[in-house]
Amino acid sequence: MNNFTFQSATKIIFGRDTEQQVGAEVKKHANRILLHYGGGSIKKSGLYDRVTVSLKENGVEFIELAGVQPNPRVSLVRKGIQLCRDNNIPFILAVGGGSVIDSAKAIAAGVPYDGDVWDFYSGKSQVVNTPLPVGVVLTLPAAGSEASSSSVLTNEDGWYKKGMGSELIRPEFAIMNPELTYTLPAYQTACGAADIMAHIMERYFTNTQDVDFTDRLCEATLKTIIENIPIAIQNPEDYAARAQVMWAGTIAHNDLLGTGREEDWASHGIEHELSAIYDVAHGAGLAVIFPAWMKYVYRNNIPRFAQFAVRVWNIEYDFENPERTALQGIEKLKGFFASIGLPVTIQQLGVEDDRLEEMADKCTDGDKKTLGSFVKLGKKDIFEIYKLACE
Ligand code: NZQ
Ligand code: ZN
Repeated sequence: MNNFTFQSATKIIFGRDTEQQVGAEVKKHANRILLHYGGGSIKKSGLYDRVTVSLKENGVEFIELAGVQPNPRVSLVRKGIQLCRDNNIPFILAVGGGSVIDSAKAIAAGVPYDGDVWDFYSGKSQVVNTPLPVGVVLTLPAAGSEASSSSVLTNEDGWYKKGMGSELIRPEFAIMNPELTYTLPAYQTACGAADIMAHIMERYFTNTQDVDFTDRLCEATLKTIIENIPIAIQNPEDYAARAQVMWAGTIAHNDLLGTGREEDWASHGIEHELSAIYDVAHGAGLAVIFPAWMKYVYRNNIPRFAQFAVRVWNIEYDFENPERTALQGIEKLKGFFASIGLPVTIQQLGVEDDRLEEMADKCTDGDKKTLGSFVKLGKKDIFEIYKLACE
């Protein structure tokens, strides 16, 4: 196991009706805020009314910035930064899914920064000046952004999708009521599951030795999703299933499962090119890319892939041919994604296969950098993975 420092400081307020606490929680930080949300799902569900009533009851003034799109755009972030500066806003409340939260984090980091906010994403600058604090009311278990130290943005100028990470942008609190996820369409629920599973698998497939404890935590979290997602899709108002998925989604990406091990993250980089150019849901892109990545790299560590097959998918270990077990695990994962209504090929994603080389080029900055650590992948490798994702 590697040395590590772990601090995941987001306060989690979990359970039925917890959104009623939002005003009192915000009040501990500020009494004037930016209320940031997406395309309207929170108005339809009545959550907007409950949140604004709670803010008013606690004497918190707010100005609003709505309209965050899935795969959030830097142009709206720039608008939000200006709005916060013009109105001297010291706190941002994000109400929604990963896109709203990531957009809020970007505004928060951009307000005290003299340059352009995209600098954090292009790698030109690090977050140094303390960002505005961010609070979250989560409506979609998927990205894990409610307790993560990262934010992902899309720049419309060239359709680049890039992430940035900093401990300074981890949210102060996340209010998580599983009932708020009842309105999620089945497809969005399934996309969330693929993203959560991908966050675990990006950490699980490692070359670091002696990490059995966190392997077991990863396996338990994966199995929780595998067991509960079909229930949540079948019965969207099953509280128990929604609650298990929601909490597992946070644990999958608050850095606990990666403690003491090298993480990979190639599949996320490869997927981000798809959602940048074609604006597909991130989770759907991962359902296509992850099994293809696995097929390309599994020979690097057959015992680890066989362990995944046996412990996560209950496949019997083939002592004569462990490679067979490893491959069965990959097929099971792909089958699971298909069974919950996700695409598993690039074509099913509705994407043409004529820009694969361009995407491989973009995600390696013109073959100047590699992706991943389990196996380091260059442009050629990534092109092969895109091709495998077409099968
Ligand atoms: O915009 P509204 O109207 O709110 O609708 C949203 C949106 O259309 C809808 N939705 C959310 N909650 C709902 C709901 N509809 C009905 N009922 C509810 N309760 O769902 C749609 C998708 O929302 P979005 O926020 O885009 O989804 P998700 O949470 O999957 O976030 C995806 C983004 O997160 C990034 C992804 O790349 C993508 O841009 N990621 C962020 C990470 C991070 N910051 O740590 C890590 C992840 O790996 C990921 O890359
Ligand atoms: Zn993700």
